[in-house]
Amino acid sequence: MKALEGVRILDFTHVQSGPTCTQLLAWFGADVIKVERPGIGDITRGQLRDLADADSLYFTMLNHNKRSITLDTKNERGKAVLAALIEQCDVMVENFAPGALDRMGFSWERIQELNPAMILASIKGFGPGPYADCKVYENVAQCTGGAASTTGFRDGVPLVTGAQIGDSGTGLHLCLGIVAALFQRTKSGRGQKVSVAMQDGVLNLCRVKMRDQQRLAHGPLKEYSQYGEGIPFGDTVPRAGNDSGGGQPGRILKCKGWETDPNAYIYFITQAPVWEAICDVIGEPDWKTNPDYATPEARLPRLNEVFERIEAWTSTREKFEAMEILNARDIPCGPILSMKELAEDASLRETGTVVEVEHPARGKYLSVGNPIKLSESPTDVVRSPLLGEHTEEILREVLQFDDQTVEELQKSGAIGAPRRLAAE
Ligand code: COA
Repeated sequence: MKALEGVRILDFTHVQSGPTCTQLLAWFGADVIKVERPGIGDITRGQLRDLADADSLYFTMLNHNKRSITLDTKNERGKAVLAALIEQCDVMVENFAPGALDRMGFSWERIQELNPAMILASIKGFGPGPYADCKVYENVAQCTGGAASTTGFRDGVPLVTGAQIGDSGTGLHLCLGIVAALFQRTKSGRGQKVSVAMQDGVLNLCRVKMRDQQRLAHGPLKEYSQYGEGIPFGDTVPRAGNDSGGGQPGRILKCKGWETDPNAYIYFITQAPVWEAICDVIGEPDWKTNPDYATPEARLPRLNEVFERIEAWTSTREKFEAMEILNARDIPCGPILSMKELAEDASLRETGTVVEVEHPARGKYLSVGNPIKLSESPTDVVRSPLLGEHTEEILREVLQFDDQTVEELQKSGAIGAPRRLAAE
C-alpha cells in the first residue's frame, strides 16, 4: 500500500513547476493522469533533446509514474471528456498562464459544480496584484522573489542559481498544499483551491534574507564578509558571495588540484564550538588563545586572513581527504560535488535518490528519484509515459467508455490517434 493510494490526480501541468509536483504525488502512490494536447504534448518532450526520436530527458525526468492521455480541450467533445474526468478525480493540478483554464471553460466555479470535493491546485508566476497576468519562467521567479538580488558577489551582477527554486521549489510548495487540502477534506468533505505563486515560493526560500533586511535597520550585518572588510552597508541586503546565511562565517576554499579541476573546492565553516579543532588542523594552535583570534567577535575583522590561512591548508588536500580529516573532528564542511560525481555516487544509487530507468525509446537513463523517503510507502520509479500511451486505457477504465465511444472520439479529433510503444 502506498501513502496516496486511491487518490486520483488530473494532471494538467506542463514544463517543470507543475510536473515536479504531480511526479511527487505519483511517487507517493497517487494515480496521476497527465492530460496533453494531441500530437504535441508537454512542450518539454521535444526540448533539449539528446536523442532524435525519444522524449527528452527534460520530460522523462519530470514525469515518472504518470499515465498520459491526449485530449484536445478546445474541442467540444474533448471538453466533455475533461468534464467527465473532473468528476472522477480528487485533485486537478495546473500551471497554465493566468486565465487559460477560464478561457477553456473550466473556471473554479464550473469545476466545483462538476465535483464539489475537487481540490484545484494552481501555480502562477505572481499572486493577485500588478503582475498577476504575467507569464513566468524559472529565472523570472528567482529575480522577482529575492534570490537573484542576494546571490553573487557584492561587486558583481545579480546571479541566478542552478537549483530550480522557482520551478521545482514551487512544485514542492504546491505538493504540500495539496496533501494538506486532501487531509482537510477527510474531515470537511469539501474541496478547495490551492494556489502558489512562484514569486512567493522563492521569497519563502529567501526568508533569511528578509530577516537580514530588517536587521540592517539596527546596524551592519557583522557576519557578512563586507563588515570585516570595512565596506559600509547600503539600505538593502547586499550580495554576500559564499558567506553562510546562518551567521557562521564560511567560504568556499581551494583544494588540491583546483588549477585543473573546476570542482576541487570545499565549503569550510568556522563554527565557534570547533574553533580549537580548526586551529589544530591548520597548524595554528596559538590562535586558540590569542585574543585577536580566540573569539568569533575578534575574528570578524580578520576573516580574510583567517580563511587565507585555512585555504593554505585545504589547498594541500584533496576535497574528500579534507572532508575526512575535518569530519573526524566534527568540523562541518562540504566538498563541491560535480554532477558527474553525484551521478556516480554509490550511496545515492543505493538509497534510490539516483536511479537508472529503462525507457522503450531511449534505453537506460539516469534520473533523480524521490528524495522524500517514507518507511511505509517506498517509491518505485517507473518510466515516463509516451504521448497518449494510456488514452484508451483511461477512457475505458476511469470513464467506462465503450469501444464505439472511443472510436467516435478518435474520429472527432478530441483525442489523439492511438499510440503504440516502439517495441510493439
Ligand atoms: N488542448 C487544447 N489546448 C490546450 C491544451 C489541450 N490539451 N493544453 C493547453 N492548451 C492551451 C491553453 O488553453 C492555452 O490556450 P490559450 O492561450 O488560448 O488560453 C495554450 O494552450 C497555451 O497555454 P500557456 O499556459 O499560455 O502556455 P505557454 O507556453 O504560452 O506559457 C508558461 C508557458 C509556463 C509561461 C505559462 O504556462 C505560465 O506562466 N504558467 C504559470 C507559471 C509557471 O508554471 N511557470 C513555470 C513553468 S516551468
